[in-house]
Amino acid sequence: MCTTRVKRGGQPQDGPTHLGLMRVLFFFAVASTCEGCPDMCLCATQTVKCQNRDLDSIPQPLPDNTKSLFVTGNNITNLGVESFPTRLELLTDLYLNGNEIQSVDSTVFDNLPNLLRLDLTNNKILHFSARAFPVNNTLQVLNLSSAFKDRSSLDVLLSVLQSGILSQLTSLDLSNNDFVIFPGGIFTSLPKMTTLSLRNGSLIAVLNGTLTGPPLRDLDLRDNSLRELPNTTLAEFSLKPGLRVLLAGNPWRCDCFLEDLVEWLKDSELVTDRQNLTCVDPANMKQVHLLKLDASRLECNFSGDSKGVLETSYVFLGLVLALIGVIFLLVLYLNRKGIKRWMYNIRDACRDHMEGYHYRYEINSDPRLANLSINSDV
Ligand SMILES: *[C@@H]1O[C@H](CO)[C@@H](O)[C@H](O)[C@H]1NC(C)=O
Ligand SMILES: *[C@@H]1O[C@H](CO)[C@@H](O)[C@H](O)[C@H]1NC(C)=O
Ligand SMILES: *[C@@H]1O[C@H](CO)[C@@H](O)[C@H](O)[C@H]1NC(C)=O
Ligand SMILES: *[C@@H]1O[C@H](CO)[C@@H](O)[C@H](O)[C@H]1NC(C)=O
Ligand SMILES: *[C@@H]1O[C@H](CO)[C@@H](O)[C@H](O)[C@H]1NC(C)=O
Ligand SMILES: *[C@@H]1O[C@H](CO)[C@@H](O)[C@H](O)[C@H]1NC(C)=O
Ligand SMILES: *[C@@H]1O[C@H](CO)[C@@H](O)[C@H](O)[C@H]1NC(C)=O
Ligand SMILES: *[C@@H]1O[C@H](CO)[C@@H](O)[C@H](O)[C@H]1NC(C)=O
Repeated sequence: MCTTRVKRGGQPQDGPTHLGLMRVLFFFAVASTCEGCPDMCLCATQTVKCQNRDLDSIPQPLPDNTKSLFVTGNNITNLGVESFPTRLELLTDLYLNGNEIQSVDSTVFDNLPNLLRLDLTNNKILHFSARAFPVNNTLQVLNLSSAFKDRSSLDVLLSVLQSGILSQLTSLDLSNNDFVIFPGGIFTSLPKMTTLSLRNGSLIAVLNGTLTGPPLRDLDLRDNSLRELPNTTLAEFSLKPGLRVLLAGNPWRCDCFLEDLVEWLKDSELVTDRQNLTCVDPANMKQVHLLKLDASRLECNFSGDSKGVLETSYVFLGLVLALIGVIFLLVLYLNRKGIKRWMYNIRDACRDHMEGYHYRYEINSDPRLANLSINSDV
C-alpha cells in the first residue's frame, strides 16, 4: 500500500525543482502516515499477521491504521504496557492464540480503546490483572479456551469477571479449561453476556446462583463431569427465557438422584441435544438414553453398595491384624534368648523390690514407730 502511493505521488510535475520538493514532501508524508510493516509480519489492508515466528513480544511499531492483528503461534510469555506502546484507535480484533502467555498486566489494553474481539486461546495464564482493560472498554467477544495453566487460575479468572470491567461482553468462551466448579455469582458482573461455553471442562456441578445475572441464550456444558443435575440447577435454567443448553458428553449416573432431571427433560425443550444424553452408570444401564428412562423406576442401591464396601474393609482389617501377629511372633522368636534374660532381670528386680517393700511395710506397721513419726511431725 505504501509503495504504490509513493509511486503515484512521485510522477513528474512541471519542473525539476518541484520534483525534488515533492519527493521530500512525500517522504515526510509517507513516514508520518504509513509506518510500513514490522519485520516478520505480513500486512494487507489493515490486517497485520505475524504468525509462527518464535516472537517473544508484539512487533513494533505497528501501522497506525491496523484493524486486525494476528500474533499467533509465537513465544510471548508476558503482556505488559510495552506490548502496545502507541494508540491504535482502529484496532478491533486481536488474536494472540498459541503463545506461552503467563501474565496479562494492568493497563495492557489501554491503547486499544475500540477492541471488540480478543482471542487468548491456548496460553498458560497464571496472572490476569482485573485492570488489563480500560474503563469503558468495548470488548464483546473474549475467547479464553484452553487459556489457563491449570485449575489454580480460577481466582485470577474470578477477579477479572467480577470486576465489572467487562460490561459490554456478549460472548465468553471458557472451554477446554480444567475448572471443577464455579462459585455462585461468578458471572453476575457480565450484564450483556448471551453466549457462554464451558465445554470440555471438569465441571461436576452447576451451583445455585452460577447463572444469575447475564441474559444467557446459549450455554454449552458438553463434555464435562456432570453426573446429575439437582432441582436448583434446573430451576436456574428455567428462569432464563429463551435459553438453549447443551448437555451431551457428561457421565450421567442413572440412579434415583437423576429422577428430577429425567422428569424435567421430558417436557423441556430447553436442552437442545437431549436426544443425545446417555447413562454411563450403573453398568446395566450403560448407553441407555435418558429420554427413554422411566423416572419412577430409577433406584439407588444404598444397602448393596455399603454392604460390599463394609465386607471389603473387614477382610482388609483381618489381613492387617494377621500380618501384625505374624511379625510379632517372628520378633519374639528371633529374640528368645534376649527375652529370657530380660525376664530373669525383671524377676530379680521384682524380688529385690518386694523385699524392700516388705521391710518398709514392717517398719510402718510397727505402732511404736508410727507414733514416733506423728510426734516428730508435730
Ligand atoms: C521461548 O522462550 C523461552 C524463554 O523465554 C526460551 O527458553 C525458549 O527456547 C523459546 N522457545 C522457542 C521455540 O523459541
Ligand atoms: C466512561 O463513560 C462514562 C459515561 O459514558 C463517562 O462519564 C466517564 O468519564 C468515562 N470514563 C472514562 C475513564 O473514560
Ligand atoms: C475460541 O477459540 C476456539 C479455538 O480456536 C474456537 O473453536 C472457538 O469457536 C472460539 N470461540 C469463540 C466464541 O469465538
Ligand atoms: C479438553 O480439554 C483438555 C484440557 O483440559 C485438552 O487436553 C483436550 O485436548 C480437550 N479435548 C478436546 C476434544 O478439545
Ligand atoms: C437459589 O438461589 C435463589 C436466588 O438466587 C434462592 O432464592 C434460592 O433459595 C436458592 N436455592 C437454594 C437451594 O439455595
Ligand atoms: C424437584 O422438583 C419437582 C417438581 O417441581 C418435585 O416434584 C420434586 O419433588 C423435587 N425434588 C426434590 C429432590 O426436591
Ligand atoms: C447427537 O449426536 C450426533 C452424533 O454424535 C450428532 O450428529 C448430532 O448432531 C447430535 N444431536 C444434537 C441435537 O446435538
Ligand atoms: C442394585 O443391585 C442389584 C444386585 O446387587 C443389581 O442387579 C442392580 O442392577 C443394582 N441397581 C442399581 C440401580 O445399581
